[in-house]
Order: sequence, then structure tokens, then C-alpha cells
Amino acid sequence: MSTGYHEPVMLHQCIDGLLWQENGIYVDATFGGGGHSREILNRMESKGQLIAFDQDEDALKNTIQDLHFQLVHGNFRFIKHYLRYLGVHQVHGILADLGVSSFQLDVDTKGFSFSRGNTFDMRMNQQATRSALDIVNHESEENLVNIFSTYGEVRNSKTLAKAILTARELKPISNTHEFLNCVEPLAMGNKARYLAQVFQAIRIKVNDEIGALQDFLAAGVDMLIPGGRLVVLTYHSIEDRIVKHFIRNGKTEFSMPSDHYDSKADWTLRPINKKPIVANDEEIRRNSRARSAKLRIAEKK
Ligand SMILES: C[S@@+](CC[C@H](N)C(=O)[O-])C[C@H]1O[C@@H](n2cnc3c(N)ncnc32)[C@H](O)[C@@H]1O
Repeated sequence: MSTGYHEPVMLHQCIDGLLWQENGIYVDATFGGGGHSREILNRMESKGQLIAFDQDEDALKNTIQDLHFQLVHGNFRFIKHYLRYLGVHQVHGILADLGVSSFQLDVDTKGFSFSRGNTFDMRMNQQATRSALDIVNHESEENLVNIFSTYGEVRNSKTLAKAILTARELKPISNTHEFLNCVEPLAMGNKARYLAQVFQAIRIKVNDEIGALQDFLAAGVDMLIPGGRLVVLTYHSIEDRIVKHFIRNGKTEFSMPSDHYDSKADWTLRPINKKPIVANDEEIRRNSRARSAKLRIAEKK
């Protein structure tokens, strides 16, 4: 079901993978427009409980009035602390639908998209200290190279970092348009794809998305009861690699070569699907965002 704010991706596949005990306690770590949460609540029975998280204040406006539901404004990397604070020590399942919502991408004031608005911000949490402008104006050349190559897999990251330094020495970059002026002439191959990679890299850095995901996976798995489910939707290869390794062997380092993911016999998670589940053609036609989505489901032994 679409809320206008965001259309949930692989809704039924996610909830089928998550919900194995209709009276259990579940977590939706990325509430957004609440599409996944609503479906969980619809399918729960009278003793079921759902606790959801979002770090973006705008998402809180979509909250659901339901006695079985609580929404926490916070970063999912602290899931364990928040749940303990709520008196919850174990849960039956955790869902994370990573990245940004359609609302966040489309709204002019957040600056997530190179084709929307002129505010180069990119903070999911409005209280976070560093925006995209801080990153491009203050990170060292070496750090910028690292950000673009690691988080965006941008091939000419050195040239790009140098161009940013040259531009900001003349005058600090003050909006999306000025940033695009330095980046666009360097686009390699498909321009929209190149810009998407550059913007993705900055977004990941601004929100420390890799650090948050690593902390979340480690803390989340501790909170699951035996038989509990971890269900994660990712939208780019860096995140998918982290989730895949974590499910196979508990390691979250994302720099490992992609074939290095032996499963460990004593590791506490068991993958339910060996290959990631992807959206069908009909869903992709309806919702282009589903195109890059990969769904992984694991069970705690
Ligand atoms: C793809 S959207 C989720 C959409 C949701 N499943 C739905 O059906 O509407 C991702 C949401 O997760 C939130 N988010 C991303 N990283 C987060 C984090 N580390 N902690 C809390 N919320 C986060 C974003 O603000 C965004 O609202």
C-alpha cells in the first residue's frame, strides 16, 4: 500500500519472511512512511507488539495510532539501548529497509537528489552536525578520494576530489548547483548514473550509513530470540555485501573481496534464502525504486 510518502518495496516478501509468530514482538528499524509497519500490524494477533524507529523527524508524522505500536525517533544503531529502555530484552523479528524514502529523495529541502532543489544538506537526522556542504567544503583531498571510491565506487575519484578542492579554494561551495558545476564536467559514462554514485557517496558519509548498519546488525542479532528473523532490504552493493557477510559469518567488514564469505558452522544466523530475493517485473514497472532492491532473510539458530 502506498502512503504517497513512500511505496514499500517487496512488501509481502518482507513480511512473510519476518512474521513467524503472530503474537510476537517485532521491530521495524526504518519506519519511513510506515508501509511495512502497517502490514505487520495487519497481520499480527492481539498480543503482538511492534516497535519502529526512524531518525528523520518528518517520518514521525506518519505514525500509526494503534495500541500495539510504538514509534521511536532515533538511530537504529542504538536499537539495543532503546529496546532495553522500553523494557524489551528479546524480539521475534527485525526488519530494516535501508537508505532513504521517496519523500526524502523528492523533497527540495533535503538535497538528497541532484535533480531536486538547491539545498545541499543530506542529513536524515536534522539534529546531526555535518551536512553534505560540510563534507565537500572541509574534508581533506585524501578523505574525499576515499569517500568517492569507497562509498560510490566512483572511478575518477582523485580527479573529482581535486576539482572540488580547486573550486572551494576560490569560494566555498554553497549549494547543490555549485557542487554540480564541479562534478558534471567530470562525469564518466552515463551522466545520471555517475552523479547518482557521487551523491550516494556523500549521503553515506553524511549519515555514517555504513557504521550505523554495522552497529545495527551486531546489536540486532543479540536481541533476537532463537528462531527470530532478521530481514534486510538493501539498495546498493556495498550494503548488500555487508548484510551477506554478516548473515553468513557474523563479519561486517565491507572491504572483503566479494567471494570471501565462507559460512561459519558456529555462527548464530542461518540464511533463509541463499540468493537475495529481488522484485518481480510488475513491481519494478510500478515502482522504479524496487529495481535495485535486494532482500535477505536470516533466522537465529
Ligand atoms: C527506505 S525508507 C523506509 C520505508 C518504509 N519501509 C516504508 O514502508 O515506508 C528508509 C527510512 O529509514 C530511515 N533511516 C535510515 N537510516 C536510519 C538509521 N540509521 N536509523 C533510523 N532510521 C533510519 C530513513 O530516515 C527513512 O525514513
